[in-house]
Order: sequence, then C-alpha cells, then structure tokens
Amino acid sequence: MSRKVTKAIFPVAGLGTRFLPATKSVPKEIMTLVDRPLIQYAIDEARAAGIEEFIFVTSRGKGALEDYFDHSHELESSLKKSGKIDLLELLRSTNMDSGAIAYVRQHKALGLGHAVWCARRLVHDEAVAVILTDDVIMGEPPCLQQMIEAYQETGGTMVATMEVPMEKTKSYGVLDVAEDMGAIVRARGMVEKPKENPPSNLAVIGRYILAPSVMENLNKLKQGAGGEIQLTDAIADEIEEGRDVFGLRFRGQRFDCGSKAGFLQATVAFGLAREELKDEFGEYLADVMSIRKAAE
Ligand code: G1P
Repeated sequence: MSRKVTKAIFPVAGLGTRFLPATKSVPKEIMTLVDRPLIQYAIDEARAAGIEEFIFVTSRGKGALEDYFDHSHELESSLKKSGKIDLLELLRSTNMDSGAIAYVRQHKALGLGHAVWCARRLVHDEAVAVILTDDVIMGEPPCLQQMIEAYQETGGTMVATMEVPMEKTKSYGVLDVAEDMGAIVRARGMVEKPKENPPSNLAVIGRYILAPSVMENLNKLKQGAGGEIQLTDAIADEIEEGRDVFGLRFRGQRFDCGSKAGFLQATVAFGLAREELKDEFGEYLADVMSIRKAAE
C-alpha cells in the first residue's frame, strides 16, 4: 500500500465549554493566538505536511468556522484598492482551493472515535491524518510532517507522543511500550485516560496517522473510557489484531489550548516568536515578572 497521506480529519464538533462564555457564540477553533485562529495553525501544519484534502467534523453552532474558509472577495478588493499588499497576501495565504474542504456533521457528542468515524465515507482505502486543534505544536519541521516522514519508514498507525508527569497520565491516551527505538516507540497497547496503573508516562498528543483498518475498528462503535467511543481503543485494537502501532516523540513544544492556562502559555510563546512583537511584548513580560518578584 502506498504510504502517501493526503487527507486529514479535523474533529471540531466539541462545545468548548471550558471557554464559556466566549464559546457561546464563537467556536473554540476560531479563538485566536496572537492574530490567527487555532484552526489556522492546524491547517498550516497540515498543508506543510502535504495534506490536500481537509475534512472537518462539525456540529451545530460552528457556522463561523465554515465562513472562515470562504474567500473574502470584498475584503480582498478593498485591501487591493488601498494598496495594503502585505495584508492582501496574508489573507490570500489562508484561502483554500474550492473542493479541498469537506464538512461532515457529528450529530451527537459520542466521543473522539465517533467523530473520526463520521468521516468514514470520505476516506477510502488509504491512511488518513487526524489533527486535534486544541493541541497546538510549535516545531520545525511541523509535527505532522515529522510524523509523515517517520511513517514513510514504519507504515502502520502512528501517534504523536510526549512524556508527561505520571500524575498527569489520567488526562491522556497512554502508550504501553514494547520497544523503545529513541524517537520512535513500538506500542504493545494503548489505554485511554487510565485512572490507575498507567503503562508508561508516554502520552498521546493530538496528531495521528491512521491505517485504514482503524476506521474499520471504529465501525464497532464500542464504548470506552467515560462511556465515549474512543479513538485510542480503535488504535489499541490494531495491536490486538497484530498490526503495527508506533509513537513518535516529536521535536517541538506542545500547548494544550483546550485549557485556559495552556492557551495563555501559547499566547506568550507565539507572541514572543513574532518578530514585530517580541521586543515590546518581551519587555512587558520582563517588567511583570520583576514586579511579581519584588512583591514576594
Ligand atoms: C484526546 C484523546 C487522548 C489524547 C488527547 C491529547 O483527549 O482522547 O487520547 O491523549 O486528546 O490532547 P481529550 O483531551 O480530547 O479529552
């Protein structure tokens, strides 16, 4: 089977209750780090990795997300008229080709595995990437590209992984490691949010390359942790059935933008990474820190 990966699924149906009241009217994927919505970071990462088809699994109230991908002709012509070429270029760089985006609806919040399964008719006998937009990763090359490169070597199914403190493993899918080859580990099991006895402290981060058989495993719609249909379980079934599952310790920094603290940390990191902001913003942060220290 060819190891080309040209499609990615973006499960974006979640309600984003942790960011209420903002998410009353704004989908959480449109929430902004510096000046780009979270979804743009995910799309940029996917494009850099060679993804050509983008499948969004949405739900009620996500209209703003669909509108975000429309070409903004009026805005473009007004920027052109006023000679704001930089902004025009920036705007155009976010335009997607007609037909490159597909939307499917998840009618019930039954879990991440269910969300991915909702895209099954748009994915045929081919490997597909999954990107969780809450996990924003600063890395060069971008995380999904690192994964696709590793996948060219290994085949099978691949998840992004990183070490977390043992006490945090209950918030993640966790790998049971059969063989540690350095950057790549071979899994002998995967457990979703283990309440006790985690098999390791290697947590799954929201990037996946799924073999077609994972989609078939999802057909069972088996309930797992929290009563939800878990992607982790469908991947663990691969191992049970004798197929390969790998974890890639990616190079880069991951921010959990599904939490307020993580979102703020990402704002600081991405703000400081911007040439036009780093001096002014960096000085402000240094001042804040010295005032805090003096007050202690
Ligand atoms: C999901 C997955 C989990 C993974 C995590 C990474 O959980 O179910 O296996 O470790 O994303 O962010 P969620 O955080 O959506 O509950």
